[in-house]
Amino acid sequence: MELLSGSLFLLLCVCGVLFLGLGWKGKGGKGRLPPGPTPLPILGNFLQLDPNNMLRSLEKLGEAYGSVFTVYLGLQRVVVLCGYKAVKEALVDQAEDFSGRGQLPSFSKDFNEHGVVFANGDRWRQLRRFSLTTLRNFGMGKRSIEERIQEEAQCLAEEFHKTQGTPFDPTFILSRAVSNIICSIVFGNRFQYDDEKFLTLNNLITERFRVGSLPPSQLYNIFPEIMEKIPGSHHAASKCSQGIIRFIEERIKMQQASLDPSDPHNYIDCFLVKMDQEKNNPASEFCMENLVMTTFNLFFAGTETIGTTLRYGFLTMLKYPQIQEKLHEEIDRVIGRDRIPATEDRNKMPYTEAVLHEIQRFSDILPMSLPHAATKDINFKGYVIPKGTYIYPLLSSVHYDSEEHSNPQEFDPGRFLDSQGCFKKVEAFMPFSAGKRICMGEGLARMELFLFFTTILQAFTLQSPVPPSQISLAPAAVGVGKVPPKYQLSASWRQH
Ligand code: HEM
Repeated sequence: MELLSGSLFLLLCVCGVLFLGLGWKGKGGKGRLPPGPTPLPILGNFLQLDPNNMLRSLEKLGEAYGSVFTVYLGLQRVVVLCGYKAVKEALVDQAEDFSGRGQLPSFSKDFNEHGVVFANGDRWRQLRRFSLTTLRNFGMGKRSIEERIQEEAQCLAEEFHKTQGTPFDPTFILSRAVSNIICSIVFGNRFQYDDEKFLTLNNLITERFRVGSLPPSQLYNIFPEIMEKIPGSHHAASKCSQGIIRFIEERIKMQQASLDPSDPHNYIDCFLVKMDQEKNNPASEFCMENLVMTTFNLFFAGTETIGTTLRYGFLTMLKYPQIQEKLHEEIDRVIGRDRIPATEDRNKMPYTEAVLHEIQRFSDILPMSLPHAATKDINFKGYVIPKGTYIYPLLSSVHYDSEEHSNPQEFDPGRFLDSQGCFKKVEAFMPFSAGKRICMGEGLARMELFLFFTTILQAFTLQSPVPPSQISLAPAAVGVGKVPPKYQLSASWRQH
């Protein structure tokens, strides 16, 4: 009994110290933190959060505390931004202050703060500048990336054609096509769709994403130290990552052996040349670990995102055959059937552009973006956000902001068209986020979405085995990303 009350006393002391710790952090001594629910020691606001749907939990807290509020994920203080105005005022108007990167243990653990996505400070600046320039230059050396995507889109159309009108799940065909574009950029070659190593790589990426979005991984994001010691599916994530890293390391070794520094052919070649140029600079971030991790980042950031958006896009076509018909009409009028789509067609295709924007708004695939962090103590909307605080900009609350969008729950490409039928920009549209951390692959992603989407619709009419009224567009799961429901489609060749 005495032992028990001793332990209890000790526990209360520890909790008290931690609570005071949180309270101290909360007040910051320099100003007022944004409001939020009172945190418990160690647990933070865990009791107010549903690890199966963090987005919904944060939205609910937003309804209670307003557009800027504070929440504790375990011991981690997070300021959440809701709605277009708050997200824009932070990420765009105070871009530098909000440009830090918070960690997301279920994904960032493998990177050890290396690689452009989860890096901070000078490491991030060096890697981002270099990667942006290299991706731009490799638009893409001797063969433009547009041509590469056009070629891959034809391969994708062939795969659709092979199904001969029988229903199929497009998930894996789409991710192979999209993954081949990143392969072309970082390795300098594409893979056959049945190449064993390529299939393994893609399965590992998909599996890594899936495991990272399961509830144990969400718990891992809140209580990393505790979950590290508890068995569960979250540990499988690291195994996938090790497989991906091995694949990348092998490729780097191969390319190192055949590198001609005067004629780099792809992202890895360019990085290796830069590493050599900077080998005597102690402040250089161009080292092997950053090469491996940035390559890993590009795969991760650039495959599931586009694959998921295309999957949502085709699902929408099944749900709204009348929209598909209007797209067919515009494609036939502007491109015709005798040549392949090109990016310059985009300017002449306002309806297609509006549909693609609406697909991205509606599907909202990264609803909480990636965590940011305050790079200094920030004065924001009358509050003080201490340096290092994590920031969650809820992109979902931008895309579904009812002050900014009429009927945000409705799929309506019309919101991106003016009364003349011309394409119209809508401010509350941030699928690639905004500010200094804005997605590095926006240009590439938009080109891929347009070319893959129009190439498939130029050649096929997409249909569902179930009537449109029975098709749901609601996500099957919401984690870091939104996972579209599984479905089948049949692709019938359009008659000339
Ligand atoms: C539909 C496709 C895509 C969507 C919706 C998307 C969305 C996003 C979002 C929301 C972020 C977080 C930005 C922030 O922290 O504020 C991001 C970051 C990033 N994305 Fe994309 N992305 C897409 C495709 C791509 C592609 C194709 C690439 C590869 C070239 C890419 C590379 C990156 C990188 C490297 C970052 C981290 C940037 C940084 O931390 O500085 N993304 N993306």
